[in-house]
Amino acid sequence: MRSADIRKKFIEFYVTQGHAEIPSAPIMPMNDPSTLFTSSGMQPLVPYLLGQKHPVGNRLVNSQKSFRAQDIEEVGDNRHTTFFEMLGNWSLGDYFKKEQLPWIFTFLTGELELDPKRLYVSVFEGNDAVPKDTESIHIWTTLFREAGIEAKLGERIFTYPAKKNWWSRSGEPEKMPPGEPGGPDSEVFFDFGMELGLHEKSIYKDEVCHPNCDCGRFMEIANSVFMQYQKQVDGTLKELSQKNVDFGGGLERMAAATADDPDVFNTDLFAPIIKNLETFSGKKYGSALQETQAMRVIADHLKAATFMINEGLFPGNKQQGYILRRLIRRAVVKIHQLGGAGSKSELGAKVYQAVGEIYDGVYFSSQSQEFLGLSQVLTEEIVRFEKVLKKGMAELSKHETISGTIAFDLLQSFGFPWELTYELALEKGQQVDRDEFQNEFRKHQALSRSAAAGMFKGGLADHSEATTKLHTAHHLLLASLQQLIDPTIKQRGSNITAERLRIDVSFGRKFTSEELQKVEDMVNKKIKENLKVTRVEMPKEVAEKIGAQMEFGTKYPDRVSVYMVGLNESIDPTSATSADYFSAEFCGGPHVSFTGTLGHFTIVKEDASSAGVRRLYAKLA
Ligand code: SER
Repeated sequence: MRSADIRKKFIEFYVTQGHAEIPSAPIMPMNDPSTLFTSSGMQPLVPYLLGQKHPVGNRLVNSQKSFRAQDIEEVGDNRHTTFFEMLGNWSLGDYFKKEQLPWIFTFLTGELELDPKRLYVSVFEGNDAVPKDTESIHIWTTLFREAGIEAKLGERIFTYPAKKNWWSRSGEPEKMPPGEPGGPDSEVFFDFGMELGLHEKSIYKDEVCHPNCDCGRFMEIANSVFMQYQKQVDGTLKELSQKNVDFGGGLERMAAATADDPDVFNTDLFAPIIKNLETFSGKKYGSALQETQAMRVIADHLKAATFMINEGLFPGNKQQGYILRRLIRRAVVKIHQLGGAGSKSELGAKVYQAVGEIYDGVYFSSQSQEFLGLSQVLTEEIVRFEKVLKKGMAELSKHETISGTIAFDLLQSFGFPWELTYELALEKGQQVDRDEFQNEFRKHQALSRSAAAGMFKGGLADHSEATTKLHTAHHLLLASLQQLIDPTIKQRGSNITAERLRIDVSFGRKFTSEELQKVEDMVNKKIKENLKVTRVEMPKEVAEKIGAQMEFGTKYPDRVSVYMVGLNESIDPTSATSADYFSAEFCGGPHVSFTGTLGHFTIVKEDASSAGVRRLYAKLA
C-alpha cells in the first residue's frame, strides 16, 4: 500500500468518526521554551490536553512531522529514524478506551488489511499509584475473539510495567516534571515472522519472544495513550479534569507492516532516496550491512535536514542549527565511507529533490522556486564540511597513534565527529588508543545526552509565570518593531526560556541603538498602560483579515485562537482593524491577563541570525 494512501485512509477514517483534521505543526516549535523540535503529535496540543478548549473541537486527527534528536545514534537499523510522520488522533476529554481501541483495531485490520493474527498488544500492568489496565485487556480480548482469535494474556496480550506501557514526554511517572501530563498506554505490534527473531542477537533463541523484546521480529505500529494524569509538585499523580486519548502511529512503520517487510527504508517514503545513493556509490542497498547502514543514515539525516531547511533553519553552532549541522555532517561522513566518485554536494541536491518529490503536495511543492532555491542551504553546508574533512584528515595523518586527546582536538578544531575520527583512523591502519578513546567518547555522549534531556524538562507544561510573562512581552516586542521600525518585519523564529526571550525577525540590516531604545521604551510604555490581553477564537480568514500575525512556516486549522493586546473593547474583535488593538497574533498561549504584571523590559542583545534575519534577546526584571 502506498504511504500516501495510508495517510489518507487514516485521516478519513477518523474524520468519519467525527474528528476535525488539524494541520501538522512545524517541526521547530515556536514559543515552546522546553524543546527544540516537535517530537510527537501531542506536543503542540498540550494546552488542550490540560483542559483548554480547542478551537476546532474535542476530536482531532492529523499527520504530524516529527523529529527525535535523541534517536540520532540509533539510526542504522531497519526501523529507527530521526524524522518520521506520526499519524495521530485525540480525544480531548471526549471518548476513551472503549471507542479508541476498537477504532484502531478496525483501522489496522479493515482499512490497512493487516491480518489480526499478526497483531499483538500490550497494556499497563499497574503500580502502586495506578491500577492494572483491566479495561483495555477486556476490550482487546473481545476484539480478538470477534476476529476469531483466542487472545490469552502472555500470549497475545502482554502486560508491562511503566517503563514500557506508560507514556509522557519525559517517560515514566518518576521522570515526569510537575505539570506534565501522561498516562498508561496500549501498544499494537506487528509480527514480521518468527524467523526474524532467530538472528544471533535475539533472545528469542532461548526463551519465548514477546512484543517488546527488540529482536526485530515485532515492530510497534500503534500507541494509544490514555492521558488522564498530571504530575504534581509533591511527586504524586493527580487525575486531570478530563480523560484524554493521545494516539500516535508511525506512518513509515505502518507502511512497512502493510508491505510485510520490516525495513522502513524499503517503503516509498525512502526508496527514491536510496536509489540515488545506489547510483552514486555503485553499491546495492541490502547487500552488505555496513553499506546498508550508511545508506540508512544518509537517507534519514538528509531527509530531516530537508524538512528543517524548508522551515527556515540554517546550519549553525547552537540549538536547532547545531542539530541540522550535525545531521548534514554525519551524512557527509557516511557518504565518504560509502564511497563514490561523484560530487557529494550534487548527491545532496539529488537527495533533497527526491525528498521533495516523496512529499510533493503534502509538505512541499518540489518544483516551486522557494523549494528549489533552498537546496543551496544544504549543498553549501556539504561543501563547507568537505573542506573541514580534508583538513582534519591531513591532521589525522600526522599522528601514528590516535589518542582520545587527539580525537578531542579534532573535534574542537574541525568539528570532526568522534565516530569519524575513529573510523578514519581504523581505515588508514593507524593505531587507536581504544580505551582512552572510548572513555572520552562515552563522556562526550553523556554530555550531549544530558544537554538534550535538559530540553525536555517540561514542554508546554512549563507554563511557569516567568515564561508566560516573557511570551506576552514577545508579542509586545514584535508589534513595537513593526509599528516603530518597519511594518513589513515578520517573525522568523522564536524561543523562550524562563530567563529570557529570543526572537528572529526578517530585517535586512543591524538595528541602530536608537531604534532598539525606542522599541524598548514602547514595550515598557505598553506594560505601564496595563493593557488587557484577550484570547478570541475566530475563523482563519477572519484572523488574517483583521491583521493578526502568523508564525512563519505554520499551517493553521480553519478556526484559530488569536491573542489580542489592548483591544478596543467597544469593537467586535472579528471586525477589528489594526487601529483597534496594539498587537494581534495567531497563538495558542498562554499569556498574562494584563500587561501591567510584566515588570521592566530590556533588550539585552541584537545580532545577525542568518542572511536577512536579525536575532534579539530580551529580559524582564
Ligand atoms: N504521544 C504518543 C507517542 O508519541 C502517542 O501519540 O507515542
